[in-house]
Amino acid sequence: MDKTKRKAVIAGNWKMNKTAGEGKELIEALLPAVVDAGCGVVICPPFTSIPAAVELTKGSRLSVGAQNVHFEKNGAFTGEVSADMLTELGVEYAIVGHSERRQYFGETDESVNLRAKAAVAAGLTAIVCVGESLAQREQGVTMELVRLQTKVALRDVSAEELKKVILAYEPVWAIGTGRTATAEQAEEVCAAIRGVLGELYGQQAAEGVTIQYGGSMNAGNAAELLSKPNVDGGLIGGASLKPADFAEIVKAASA
Ligand code: PGA
Repeated sequence: MDKTKRKAVIAGNWKMNKTAGEGKELIEALLPAVVDAGCGVVICPPFTSIPAAVELTKGSRLSVGAQNVHFEKNGAFTGEVSADMLTELGVEYAIVGHSERRQYFGETDESVNLRAKAAVAAGLTAIVCVGESLAQREQGVTMELVRLQTKVALRDVSAEELKKVILAYEPVWAIGTGRTATAEQAEEVCAAIRGVLGELYGQQAAEGVTIQYGGSMNAGNAAELLSKPNVDGGLIGGASLKPADFAEIVKAASA
């Protein structure tokens, strides 16, 4: 497995944290901390902070992503934001199908597929999240479930479009719980995701796809998780709000 065939990407998912003013402070603290990053570094603040984030990060190592994107170009979708609205602001990434969106906002594998397609069609890189709940892990259906989520999320996504897709394996039981998957568990599922990608697009294309792990990744456990051959980066929640911790994770991915 040749990790040089793909880019390591660390993405910070701020979730519903930080007002625009607080976000500005966080970015100002992050900028010097990631100046030597040897990997892709993305921050995904709330929509309200995006214009300021794009402005503040211009010419820096930080790219800006959104936490969600709608699949239609415009229309009667109260509370939603389209891909064109994001790209116009200079956004480069969008998280799609985060488990909190699935759990609290009724997103399904099908809507995740539509959102991922809309994102890549507009030129965004979609960070597509998949992962099992605790009950599903205990029942032993993790592999089947993650394979299915991956396949449905990528329906009608071409090999060319796949170049604009990152997969994020996020076991739901590890998100915000402080309970991280072991590096072996993360590797096992990330490898299975790459296996599905190989079946769908061929091995060469699959080897070029960045696959992140997410779920209580922090400054202390990042290096071990990222040392695994199929773990190419991280989607970071809590630790992305702490500049020193986030910088440490970025350093681990840059090694
Ligand atoms: P966490 O969140 O790092 O706080 O567990 C990860 C995520 O939800 O993307």
